[in-house]
Amino acid sequence: MNLVVVSNRVARGKTHEPMTGGLAAALLPVVEKSGAIWVGSSGRVRDGAQKEPFAEIEALGAGALAMLDLPAAHYGGYYEGFANSALWPALHSRSDLIRASHEDYFSYREVNSFMAKALLRFQKPDTAFWIQDYHFLALGAELRDLGVTQPIGFFLHTPWPDRAVIGGVPHHRELVEAMLAYDLIGFQTQDDCDNFLGYLAADLGLAIENHVVTSRYGKSHVQVFPIGIDPQKFAEQSAKAVSHPDVSRLRRSLHGEKLAIGVDRLDYSKGLINRIKAFDRMWTLQPALARTVSLLQIATPSRGAIEAYGNLQSELAKLVSDVNGQHGEVDWTPIRYLNKGFSQTVLAGLYRTAQVGVVTPLHDGMNLVAKEYVAAQNPADPGVLVLSKFAGAANELDTALLVNPNDIDGMARTIATAVSMPLTERRMRWEAMMEKLRAGTIQQWFADFVDALQETQADKAPPE
Ligand code: UDP
Ligand code: G6P
Repeated sequence: MNLVVVSNRVARGKTHEPMTGGLAAALLPVVEKSGAIWVGSSGRVRDGAQKEPFAEIEALGAGALAMLDLPAAHYGGYYEGFANSALWPALHSRSDLIRASHEDYFSYREVNSFMAKALLRFQKPDTAFWIQDYHFLALGAELRDLGVTQPIGFFLHTPWPDRAVIGGVPHHRELVEAMLAYDLIGFQTQDDCDNFLGYLAADLGLAIENHVVTSRYGKSHVQVFPIGIDPQKFAEQSAKAVSHPDVSRLRRSLHGEKLAIGVDRLDYSKGLINRIKAFDRMWTLQPALARTVSLLQIATPSRGAIEAYGNLQSELAKLVSDVNGQHGEVDWTPIRYLNKGFSQTVLAGLYRTAQVGVVTPLHDGMNLVAKEYVAAQNPADPGVLVLSKFAGAANELDTALLVNPNDIDGMARTIATAVSMPLTERRMRWEAMMEKLRAGTIQQWFADFVDALQETQADKAPPE
């Protein structure tokens, strides 16, 4: 089989550094090994009719990385518009933040159609297409309209919310109907899968049998494939990274004080405001923890041109500064707040240096940072993960300290518990989580999806 993987965000050209964000970071090592062709946006746009849409095609492991310049007239409406101002908030149950114009939807469809035409270049009789994430909900339907009959799979990296929330997205019906062009539709969790099937049954009146739905496109299989990481790689990277200059400087600066770490894109789904408020509450309620535990919060800039993200950045910067002003001392800063990105090698070392990992999204498809934090711990003296029960990762990492990210007092208490947890309990919880990570690696996820996609062909009518 000749696999073509498609996502908006891909690895950086030439250096093949992963871009910030779970999708590209997770896919890079497995796509690289699989020999697949990985197609995505170059991050640049081009005007007018272009004969050759591919800006760059370069070798990536045994396969290739192919990057397209997307059409200038539609890029904003597609990326900042429909994908990230209508779909992203809806998928994360933030109906209040949905902003969508009909032009944005038109641009979204235009970019999906543009991508479909560009993909024909890689089409061979034994090709299978695997489309990633909410940027390309309609890409399968566009490919079918162009006559593609090969298997097409789709995986959603984000949550899929309740049908009432999806119902708030303009053109939701058209989009979900278009998704049924996929032979296999994968979700992170059973809840996401159930919400999707609930929409199909209640809003589209479709019958679902054994997770298979039949539409005018034929059969679509709907299944759960929780995404994983490579825990061994993180463990090795983190052990080595402790000697990286950034990591050793951090260690030297702590003077025996305990450290909690948060690593997130600066996104309203990540629960950053409530997290900072929880630390504020903890230092207020337990002043003895001031000077003994501080927070390193990495908030990597993301989608800055969108108003909701700009607003969050200002609100968060003000809150961090207020909390530091309130609890800081001449020689102690409670929160080290960094608006920049780090390589995964450095992150692995930072995770290992921190006694507590705080991952408290309001909603998250999976959250790979939670898994990476666990894998990066020193087995002899592991740290404690404080994890939102609304992250997909909580289904597997159920021996983390699970919190409700809306309950600021509860989070404050749980972080304090994490800081003082005895070694035996830390090890017990950590070992149970590591077992789950080893059972559900990224390699396994990739292989399971591709196998399931091939299996969907078994019930296709044989050619006459
Ligand atoms: N990441 C990174 N550098 C950073 C911040 C994050 O490489 O400065 C990576 C991180 O290691 C993880 C991914 O970005 O693999 C974030 O994935 P996650 O699922 O936690 O959240 P997302 O950003 O996809 O919503
Ligand atoms: C999430 C999405 C990905 C996206 C990433 C970073 O993980 O599921 O599709 O690539 O965030 O966001 P960006 O807008 O920078 O690609």
